[in-house]
Amino acid sequence: MAKIIDGKAVSLEVKEALRDKCAEIAASGKRVPCIAVIIVGDNPASRSYVRGKLKAAEFTGFESRLAELPEDVREAELLHMIDGLNKDAGVDGILVQLPLPGHIDEDKVLDAILPEKDVDGFHPVNVANLWLGRPCTVPCTPKGIIKLIESTGLEIAGKKAVVAGRSNIVGKPVAKLLLDRNATVTIAHSRTPDLAALTREADILVAAVGRPGIITGEMIKPGSVVIDVGINRTADGKLTGDVDFASASEVAGFITPVPGGVGPMTIAMLMENTYDAWLAMQER
Ligand code: GUN
Repeated sequence: MAKIIDGKAVSLEVKEALRDKCAEIAASGKRVPCIAVIIVGDNPASRSYVRGKLKAAEFTGFESRLAELPEDVREAELLHMIDGLNKDAGVDGILVQLPLPGHIDEDKVLDAILPEKDVDGFHPVNVANLWLGRPCTVPCTPKGIIKLIESTGLEIAGKKAVVAGRSNIVGKPVAKLLLDRNATVTIAHSRTPDLAALTREADILVAAVGRPGIITGEMIKPGSVVIDVGINRTADGKLTGDVDFASASEVAGFITPVPGGVGPMTIAMLMENTYDAWLAMQER
């Protein structure tokens, strides 16, 4: 039976450390880290994620600003708001919750955020620097996944890692982070002919496909580390991952639950990135 990787507990440790640092900053009379979050429209999942991010900011003692824009907001208005936040010396991090409505060019919006305030790590400068192995803001979910794997005590170097999913937000960057730690990495995706043959070889399996239960126990190497990035809603409104937990936990060595695995870590990493942006701002 697999050991559960408790994302809630690991993320709490990260947030508590940040809360302590933030308390010291406040005590010294300095401005505390500040994150600005922009949400467009009222997608219920996006609203729920944003609530989680603001709650974490409150927990750590960071300042947060929330801008809620209507679904039909003009792209120019959103870009204008980002420009204002870029110029605002009291704001360390800017996050525009994705997805955006179809009439808004997501690339244009992400490009508009100053790379040093891009706490999501989605700006092309940060993405390029990640792939070049240069200092950059590492995207939150991939960064959190690495911390969760490390929390098992398992050495990543020399392991076979399979990443199922090739999104810009998770699949591609987590593959690079695993590569940086000397794993041998395979990226699988919806056109991979025999996914199970690959996943069965994986010492580390990251499931980020977005299809409920696509990874079953028979597809898992005994004793491996299984990280479930899926956040799927069932018909009755429950959250479920890309991994069939019941069968997978019989085979894996370590496994993340959904909810309570990757999700809380993503938010903790966002707070860490905001703190790092604050720190960089102090040094400028
Ligand atoms: N939508 C889903 N995941 C994310 C994320 O990590 N950041 C932002 N900005 N939007 C998202």
